Amino acid sequence: MKTINIAIDGPAGAGKSTIAKMVSARLGYIYVDTGALYRAVALYITENSIADADIEPALANADVSLRFVDGAQRVFIGDRDVSDLIRTPEISMAASRTSAIPAVRKYLFGTQQKIAAENNVIMDGRDIGTVVLPNADVKIFLTASAEERAERRYKELAEKPDCPTYEEILADIKQRDENDMTRKESPLRQAEDAVFVDTTELDLEQSADEIVRIIREKTDRK
Ligand code: DC
Repeated sequence: MKTINIAIDGPAGAGKSTIAKMVSARLGYIYVDTGALYRAVALYITENSIADADIEPALANADVSLRFVDGAQRVFIGDRDVSDLIRTPEISMAASRTSAIPAVRKYLFGTQQKIAAENNVIMDGRDIGTVVLPNADVKIFLTASAEERAERRYKELAEKPDCPTYEEILADIKQRDENDMTRKESPLRQAEDAVFVDTTELDLEQSADEIVRIIREKTDRK
């Protein structure tokens, strides 16, 4: 049976993962965070000090995969669950760099397509609607202003020790936007048939409501 595939793309910090999780819980789909795959590859490359020229052969042994435990995604390198280790600023920046390498994208392409072929998914990333699932049933491009994204991130981190300043977070977000949008290989851009959703003025509930509305409208789910 054909599965239903929803693609959500957009820049870092637009709330994609939180919103996509809320929407998948409501619709009973699996939520797939493809950024976690790129982060796991970045961790593998960093931990093993692999030079760019050696990445392609090295990935043949990397064994990066996603597993779903009670519907929740975990990311593995071999049998090691690295889901928490990949959430550091260092790995964010490393993933932004290594995800531009064609061998890395090629390595993860099949993994993503296979999950979407076997499950009803809401898959989020940067090139899902444009490259990975060009025939997705619904495509959404989710964004918010860089200042609003930095503000949200700052509020999230404010309680933690060594919290970066708002200006540092904003600079980091702008740098990652620049990397993701200007790379040659699968740059972040809105697919022609994607619906544009700007969450600058919306809270999480309102954003999730809007996306559920778009999905229902496009798939005739009542
Ligand atoms: O969504 P995230 O911040 O966890 O993604 C980490 C990095 O991976 C980000 O810099 C862009 C890259 N990425 C990508 O190139 N393609 C995707 N489909 C998902 C993420």
